[in-house]
Amino acid sequence: MNTAKLILPEQEVELPIVVGSEFEKALDISKLRGTTGFITLDSGYGNTGSCKSAITFINGEKGILRYRGYPIEEIADKCSFLETAYLLIYGNLPNAEQKAAFQDNVTSHTLIHEDMKKFFEGYPSNAHPMAILASMFTSLSTFYPNNQDTDLDIVRLIAKAPTIAAFSYKKSVGQPFVYPRNDLEYASNFLQMMWAVPAQEYEVSPAVRDALNLLLILHADHEQNCSTSTVRMVGSSQANLFASMAAGVSALWGPLHGGANQKVIEMLQRIRDDGGDYKKYMAMAKDKDSGFRLMGFGHRVYKNFDPRARILEKAAGRVLSELGLSDPLLDIAKNLEEIALADEYFVERKLYPNVDFYSGIIYRAMGIPTEMFTVMFALGRLPGWIAQWKEMRDDPKGRIYRPRQVYVGATERHLD
Ligand code: SDX
Repeated sequence: MNTAKLILPEQEVELPIVVGSEFEKALDISKLRGTTGFITLDSGYGNTGSCKSAITFINGEKGILRYRGYPIEEIADKCSFLETAYLLIYGNLPNAEQKAAFQDNVTSHTLIHEDMKKFFEGYPSNAHPMAILASMFTSLSTFYPNNQDTDLDIVRLIAKAPTIAAFSYKKSVGQPFVYPRNDLEYASNFLQMMWAVPAQEYEVSPAVRDALNLLLILHADHEQNCSTSTVRMVGSSQANLFASMAAGVSALWGPLHGGANQKVIEMLQRIRDDGGDYKKYMAMAKDKDSGFRLMGFGHRVYKNFDPRARILEKAAGRVLSELGLSDPLLDIAKNLEEIALADEYFVERKLYPNVDFYSGIIYRAMGIPTEMFTVMFALGRLPGWIAQWKEMRDDPKGRIYRPRQVYVGATERHLD
C-alpha cells in the first residue's frame, strides 16, 4: 500500500504514503489543497511532519534517541561535544584529521570582536542571559555580514557562543571578562571563562568538565522541537545563520521548552522552602485549577522515559559525590519521580521526567546560576539547530515555510 484513500464529501483522493527509514509512516498532503480545496488543521503540530530529516531519530514510545543512527547512550559515553557537533552537522563522526582540524578551527575563533564587549555595558546587571545571547547572536551578523562561507560561520557560532555566555555571567557579577584560552578544550575553556578571576590560579575540575561535556551532548539535538522548528522556519526565508540561531534562542527561552530547567529548580526550591512536602505539590500538579505544573515532567514525543533524563539522573548522583556535595533538591526530585511514576494521573497521561528534570541539579553542583541554565541548554542545542538549518538550506527543493489557516473571524463588513 503506497497510497491512502481520503473520502471527502464530493470526491475521493489518493494520498501518497511516505515511509521513513525507521518505518514511520506519513501521508503526503502537499497537493491536498490544490486538488481538493481542503487543508488540514493540527493545533501545535502534534500530528504534522514539517520535513524529512536524517539527523536525529526519536521513538517516543520506546524512549529511543539516536544522533545520525548512533544511540545517545553510546555518544554520551564515548564522544566529545565537538565530535558530536561534527556528527550532527556533517553526518558522520570526524576521523582523526577532521577532528583535529575542527577543534583547531573552533579554538581559533573563540574571541568576539572587541566592539561587542561594549554591548554588555548597556545591559542592566540583572539582564537575563538568554536576552543577551539572542541579541549577541543576531549582532554577530553585523560583524560577519557576507555569509558566503557557511562552514566558517558555523565554526564562528560554535566557538563564540561559550564566550558570549561566560561574558554575560561575568557582567552579571561585575567581574572582569576572562578571555578564551587556546590551550584548553571546549568545555574546560568555557569553565575557565566562567570561574577564573584575575591573580588567582583556576584549575578545571575533571568531574565538572566531564559533566559539562555530557550535558552539552545530551542537549545537542532533538529533531523538530519548538526551537528547532523556529530555526528552520526563519532559515527558510533565507535569513542568515546568525539571525536564525537567535530565533532559536528566543523560542528555547520559554518555560514550556528550554526554560523548564530553570523552572524545575525554582519549583524544587519552592517545595524545599515549603517544608519539603512534595506530596502536596504532586496533588497541585494534578489539580488543573492550581495553575501549578510539575516542571521537568511530560513531553510531546516521549511517552516513556526520556533517555536523557535516565542518563542525567545517574550523572547527578555521580557528580555530587565526585564533588563531595549533597543537594536536598535531588532528594525531592527523586521523591517526586517515585510517586509520579506510580500515580494514575501521570501514568494515564504517560508523563515521565524529561531532560530538564535532573539537568538543573548538575548545573547547580557545577555552580552555574539558575538564570544561566537555559543558556547552557542553548550552548548544547546550537549544533543541532545548525545541523537542521543546514539540512533545510541544502535541500534543492526547499521552500519558505508558510502554513495556512482556517479563518474564523468576522466575515466581510464595511465602514459606515
Ligand atoms: C523540552 O520537543 C522537544 O523535543 C523538547 C525538548 C528538546 O530537547 O528540545 O525535549 C526539551 O522542552 C522538554 C519539555 C520541558 N517542559 C517542561 O518540563 C514543562 C512541563 N511539561 C509540560 O508543560 C508539557 O508536558 C509539555 C509542554 C512538555 C508537553 O506539552 P503537550 O504535549 O502539549 O501536552 P499537554 O500540555 O497537552 O498535556 C497533556 C496532558 C494535560 O492533561 P489533560 O488536559 O489531558 O487532562 O498532560 C498534562 C496536561 O495538563 N500535563 C501535565 C504536565 N505535562 C502535561 N500535568 C502536570 N504537570 C506536567 N508537567
